[in-house]
Amino acid sequence: MGQKNIFQINNHLRVKMENTSKKIHPSAIIDKEAIIGDNTSIWQNCIIQGKAIIGNNCKIGANVYIEDNVKIGNGVKIKNNIAIYSGVVCEDDVFLGPNCVFTNVINPRSFIERKAEFKSTLVKKGATIGANATIICGHVIGKYAMVGAGAVVTKDVPDFALVAGNPARIIGTVCVCGVKLDKDLCCNKCGRTYKIINGNTCLVEKQ
Ligand SMILES: CC(C)(COP(=O)(O)OP(=O)(O)OC[C@H]1O[C@@H](n2cnc3c(N)ncnc32)[C@H](O)[C@@H]1OP(=O)(O)O)[C@@H](O)C(=O)NCCC(=O)NCCS
Ligand SMILES: [Zn+2]
Repeated sequence: MGQKNIFQINNHLRVKMENTSKKIHPSAIIDKEAIIGDNTSIWQNCIIQGKAIIGNNCKIGANVYIEDNVKIGNGVKIKNNIAIYSGVVCEDDVFLGPNCVFTNVINPRSFIERKAEFKSTLVKKGATIGANATIICGHVIGKYAMVGAGAVVTKDVPDFALVAGNPARIIGTVCVCGVKLDKDLCCNKCGRTYKIINGNTCLVEKQ
């Protein structure tokens, strides 16, 4: 039985349990070659193409389009209405806010083929992209960085940086837990501390 048929069984259920650990809405269209991890849920009208790989424990909201070869790690939350194009990689625990936008061509023209010029985007572990933000291709969003709602990212975002605006500028530093750090690079919420090493913000691991 083809994968599509498996998803169409029990169409009367709001959410079809494909097996004990995956929830895939019957309206989702998932190519046979795509790999979907355990305990991942995929909601209404999602399209997952080709050899996309999606990890375990992910939550993919309605109307998400994931193109061939996209790689999504474990524990990634993808809110509604997001297109993730070839060349985008999201590491573990990334959060993509509703309606955020990825790009993969820097200077598109409808009448010029630019597939060979696609630029990639890497969203590193634990990073958050706010609602409606736009990520210009060819950049890296650092680990645990936070991109504000509506920001337009035109450069790499350092690890733990908080960026906002158009073009996105660094307006602070955020903790693993998502709270802004104080001037001593301490988190008043969870107690984690950070220091700058070679210009990079680094978490001080507890001994
Ligand atoms: C960027 C963000 C994390 C900052 O939160 P915060 O630290 O509580 O920020 P504050 O409200 O204290 O604002 C600090 C300053 O940044 C500005 N600011 C805050 N968010 C901004 C944004 N998204 N874009 C531009 N400027 C922003 C504020 O206007 C304020 O400016 P001011 O100092 O000139 O008055 C937050 O505003 C944001 O955008 N979160 C994303 C929410 C989201 O998309 N969630 C998706 C899941 S539903
Ligand atoms: Zn913290």
